Amino acid sequence: MAESRRRMATVAAALVLLVVAVAAGLPAAAALGVNWGTMATHQLPPGTVVRMLSDNGIGKVKLFDADPGPMDALAGSGVEVMVAIPNNMLDMMTDYGTAKDWVRQNVSRYNFDGGVNIKYVAVGNEPFLSSLNGTFLNVTFPALQNIQRALNDAGLGDTIKATVPLNADVYNSPADNEVPSAGRFRSDISDLMTEIVLFLNQSGAPFTVNIYPFLSLYDNDNFPLDYAFFDGTSSPVVDNGIQYTNVFDANFDTLLSALAAVGVGGLPVVVGEVGWPTDGEKHATAAYAQRFYAGLLRKLAANTGTPLRPNQYIEVYLFSLIDEDAKSVAPGNFERHWGIMRYDGQPKYDMDLTGQGRNTALVAARGVQYLPRQWCVVNPNAPDMSKIGDSVTYACTFSDCTSLGYGSTCNGLDAVGNASYAFNMYFQVQNQVDGSCDFQGLAVPTAQNPSTEACNFTIQIVPSPAGRRPGGPVATALLLLLLLLAVLQIAP
Ligand SMILES: *[C@@H]1O[C@H](CO)[C@@H](O)[C@H](O)[C@H]1NC(C)=O
Ligand SMILES: *[C@@H]1O[C@H](CO)[C@@H](O)[C@H](O)[C@H]1NC(C)=O
Ligand SMILES: *[C@@H]1O[C@H](CO)[C@@H](O)[C@H](O)[C@H]1NC(C)=O
Ligand SMILES: *[C@@H]1O[C@H](CO)[C@@H](O)[C@H](O)[C@H]1NC(C)=O
Ligand SMILES: *[C@@H]1O[C@H](CO)[C@@H](O)[C@H](O)[C@H]1NC(C)=O
Ligand SMILES: *[C@@H]1O[C@H](CO)[C@@H](O)[C@H](O)[C@H]1NC(C)=O
Repeated sequence: MAESRRRMATVAAALVLLVVAVAAGLPAAAALGVNWGTMATHQLPPGTVVRMLSDNGIGKVKLFDADPGPMDALAGSGVEVMVAIPNNMLDMMTDYGTAKDWVRQNVSRYNFDGGVNIKYVAVGNEPFLSSLNGTFLNVTFPALQNIQRALNDAGLGDTIKATVPLNADVYNSPADNEVPSAGRFRSDISDLMTEIVLFLNQSGAPFTVNIYPFLSLYDNDNFPLDYAFFDGTSSPVVDNGIQYTNVFDANFDTLLSALAAVGVGGLPVVVGEVGWPTDGEKHATAAYAQRFYAGLLRKLAANTGTPLRPNQYIEVYLFSLIDEDAKSVAPGNFERHWGIMRYDGQPKYDMDLTGQGRNTALVAARGVQYLPRQWCVVNPNAPDMSKIGDSVTYACTFSDCTSLGYGSTCNGLDAVGNASYAFNMYFQVQNQVDGSCDFQGLAVPTAQNPSTEACNFTIQIVPSPAGRRPGGPVATALLLLLLLLAVLQIAP
């Protein structure tokens, strides 16, 4: 009796602790992940980023490669890491020896006390995206098998799982019955997807999916706006008596139906990317992003799960941590504005990662070093403005002008403001070096901030030597282009 009363007291105390911890938001914040992409011309030092993660209680991070800069900075932090093999290396990984080498150099190397807490290896990044035209269809599954085998052979297979982050376009429900329960893998890849999910199930690895309500809205003019968010909708999707009020749940459950249809309905699912951009398109605004994350984070913190997997924790990696001004804009101008932080690690809007909807800001990156406070603008005394169009085109070719487009924060500038914006972006990307704010006398540096209420003329951060691999693909491409332009003598 006394014993059982003591046990009850212990259980009660544990429950109180749990409630306190939940109220303080600790488990939710610790369980949250972010994507850390590095396609930026100027990167925060990796150590600064890792500190920002811990300052914000972010316990998981997903990378797009195995760059030693971020990996070394993550060592000893305790942050759980999904390290990645880029698509262009998948072909090599179809050779087991190479896969084994990769695991040794990029996983085992960090597996020591005080090393990197690697949880997953991402094999490719959305390799079956329709727009990739099937380029990686033949290599992804063999690469996945080889990497998991190499992890197993290295004695790491119990704790580190290989998975393939896939875009939600690998499954759908038929156009004449667009309900989650009708979800199946895309018909052109259904056999391959079936083999892959059976393999994941067998190795104890999760399915990793990227879900983008923003893109649902962007791709379809008739998409109901409020269905992209989490505050209810006037037009829910009704499926076997279940009311879906947001596309995230509907999409997630479409995947669960596709998995169930091939016999692995219980496979764990990780959301590898989900987020909302803040510029470059009419729905890409800070206000919408704030609304989206407020709803998502509230839902995650409450562990509501989805109708087909109710009351469950969902492992989620927000996309993305920081803006990346060197990403391809093929998907759209918004592509460089996915960060919950700006390029310099400053928060963009209020966001409560604990999901309690408090008006609180994320903790900014600390100790960020900026270039001098000077901007580049159109020279009011320019002798000849006739060639300004060519100069703007040049400036925008080598810097990020995506904020100038229709629906973007700087779209309201006049023609001179536009040109100034372009010149400044170029000047900052060039680290404000001598001659980078001239454009044949059309531009001039200024100490007066030309920003308007809606449009920020930025000052870049000091480039971090560890942040950018010398000879990375972007740097090399830029260098080659510059050389070519120099040869053709069309440089400004
Ligand atoms: C990862 O491993 C491969 C060897 O398979 C190596 O070439 C590469 O440099 C390593 N590091 C990164 C950052 O991928
Ligand atoms: C895929 O095909 C389309 C149309 O043929 C082409 O425009 C695009 O560049 C291709 N993409 C890739 C990644 O090969
Ligand atoms: C994949 O393999 C099939 C069959 O071997 C072949 O016909 C196809 O061209 C390959 N696709 C690619 C993208 O390599
Ligand atoms: C999935 O994995 C579990 C656990 O290993 C196993 O019992 C089950 O048979 C697997 N399912 C299929 C369809 O292979
Ligand atoms: C400024 O540039 C943007 C993007 O090129 C363009 O859409 C807009 O019309 C320009 N505005 C003016 C006033 O030239
Ligand atoms: C412009 O940048 C400042 C910080 O330098 C920031 O406080 C402000 O919110 C930004 N404004 C816009 C419209 O992005």
